[in-house]
Amino acid sequence: MADAAAPKLVTRRTFLGWWMASLLTATVVAGLAPILVYLWPAPPKGQKRGPIKISLTTPLDQIPDGSATQILSPTSPNSAFVMADGGGDNAAGDLAFGAFIVKSQGKIAVFAQNCSHLGCSIGFNRDARTFDCPCHGSRFNLDGTVLHGPAANPLSHLTWQQGSSPTELQIDGIILGF
Ligand code: FES
Repeated sequence: MADAAAPKLVTRRTFLGWWMASLLTATVVAGLAPILVYLWPAPPKGQKRGPIKISLTTPLDQIPDGSATQILSPTSPNSAFVMADGGGDNAAGDLAFGAFIVKSQGKIAVFAQNCSHLGCSIGFNRDARTFDCPCHGSRFNLDGTVLHGPAANPLSHLTWQQGSSPTELQIDGIILGF
């Protein structure tokens, strides 16, 4: 009868099984790594993804309905906002260096200022309460939807949350480091 406490001998079959499993794992990891890096690339050296703090003059809960306030990404350090969604010339992950904080029907949204047609910077039309593009005449409603083409897609949202005070906004962005 075999001694239960005696160490088990590794047979050639067991060893080959481990060896094959290790080889298979290494092959899968080596094959998947470039795909994962392509899908979720790390920011270039010196760049850091994270919330960008924006200070407002009006507390968030006192922003008047129907208004739009333009903000620019900070330049010290050089930063950019990152689009949460897209359409047309814009795509999720694209950078925006300006945005509009909008209150429409009681809801606050932040839109990248890039026109979805070909990327020109839109402006706010205070009289009509629309966003108008100076390049080819596209117009957008306060909620970012298209009012007039040639743009066929709405404005891109930016992901935001209130910061540590009612006048601080934290917007998803990236510190560019140059
Ligand atoms: S880029 Fe705005 S309408 Fe063409």
